[in-house]
Amino acid sequence: MSRNCLPALCVALPACLALAACDGPDFSRIAPLEAGALPASPTNAHADDPKAAALGQALFFDADLSADGQVACATCHQPEHGFGDPRPTSPGAFDRPGSLHAPGLLNVAFQRVWMWNGRVDHLWSQPIQALEHPAEHDFTRVELAHRIAGPYRPYYESVFGPLPDLGDLPPRAKPGDDAWAALSAAQRDAIDRVAANVGKAIEAYERKLLCTDTRLDRYLRGEGELTALELQGAAQFLDRDQGDCARCHGGATLSDGAFHNLGLERADSDELGRPAGLQALVDDPFNGEGDYSDDPTAGRQRIEAMVLAEAPLGGFRTVPLRGVAQRAVFGHRGDTDRLRTWITTVYRRRGRRGRGDGDLLGQRSSLIRDPGNPTALVAFLQTLSCPPLPEALTRAPTATELAEAMAWDAAATVEGQP
Ligand code: HEC
Ligand code: HEC
Repeated sequence: MSRNCLPALCVALPACLALAACDGPDFSRIAPLEAGALPASPTNAHADDPKAAALGQALFFDADLSADGQVACATCHQPEHGFGDPRPTSPGAFDRPGSLHAPGLLNVAFQRVWMWNGRVDHLWSQPIQALEHPAEHDFTRVELAHRIAGPYRPYYESVFGPLPDLGDLPPRAKPGDDAWAALSAAQRDAIDRVAANVGKAIEAYERKLLCTDTRLDRYLRGEGELTALELQGAAQFLDRDQGDCARCHGGATLSDGAFHNLGLERADSDELGRPAGLQALVDDPFNGEGDYSDDPTAGRQRIEAMVLAEAPLGGFRTVPLRGVAQRAVFGHRGDTDRLRTWITTVYRRRGRRGRGDGDLLGQRSSLIRDPGNPTALVAFLQTLSCPPLPEALTRAPTATELAEAMAWDAAATVEGQP
């Protein structure tokens, strides 16, 4: 049963006449999220391959994929924090400071664009950026190839087929340095393919990190109830003449997948937001229309749609809200540590400027309304809290689990454990 006010009430003539009095929240602006509706990922032929997911999970928790041996994806994307970071920003290898907040990864595969400025168009093209970022893993794709050709070889080959002969490789090299320039074009292509496949395995794992059974989802499916305060918050969230949060946080994911300037930048900030992200993804050799895509036509269509969409200066991506009340900090800088404060400072300051940019002011004040009672809104957002994931998804897989996923017999496990 749907919770849309209109069909629920209008089943008989007297009820239809009562429609005028139907002033409850308009739940048609949001929808429950269904795990079965996870969008396909045509540019990744291994997106739903369980072998790839097991390999990706092992890689996600492997701190040896970093320059100082201390940083795994899970160091910043912590399973016990919705695969996000409770700290505002995350130090990477050698404790180098990061500048943006590491968002949670639950439901990440429901998105169509990634990163705060949207510089990633396909989920598999993201890991190489984190691995080579000097303030994240500070690894290089050649070191990655060495490690794949070492302890990961049997797993990798079980998913992607034989590794090419990588020839004589230096210990460490990535685009921009001399050691990389000295490699042959064929070597560079072979290494890039390994890096893309690592991304495809990690995407297959990330597609399992789901949160689709919150109290709100159950309510919207007609399977549970909300309290009066939560319903009041829902009304503020949904109604156009109140918070109107659903204008951006609508649909099943509670995000329009678009970019908006909320005026959060500090006056001294030169953050460009979306325009810089769009340029970066068009230039990215690992994007969905590039040589490493398994469906360049589908990839191109997505990129073309992005190029045509609005790219506001200082715009960042609307955050999907499932699990929001379980997060420790909010916003792309992670500099707000209470949900209530986010609501009262960001959305309740019509006309206050953040960035010193005149035309953005008008745009912003027309977007943001008075959100109303913050206590009710917070109560509503708490109905989006995620139940725990199966334990086996929240840690590195054991040798036995890996072997099972690869459909090997148990005797084969010992040698191949990374
Ligand atoms: C040192 C901390 C750190 C490490 C290590 C790290 N990340 Fe991140 N991650 C971040 C930050 C910060 C962002 C946001 C950066 C941005 O948007 O520019 C992010 C963003 C992401 C996103 C985009 C999420 C979204 O909703 O758009 C994904 C996916 C992701 N990381 C996956 C990974 C994977 C996979 C790894 C390992 C290969 C990894 N990260 C390693 C800090 C980290
Ligand atoms: C104009 C579009 C828009 C509207 C309207 C809007 N938001 Fe947002 N929201 C965003 C964007 C964009 C971000 C990310 C901002 C950033 O960090 O740069 C965001 C971030 C958030 C966050 C932080 C989540 C996190 O994990 O970092 C919360 C909470 C939130 N919004 C709640 C609300 C509520 C509640 C309302 C209604 C009162 C609302 N939003 C209205 C666009 C919008």
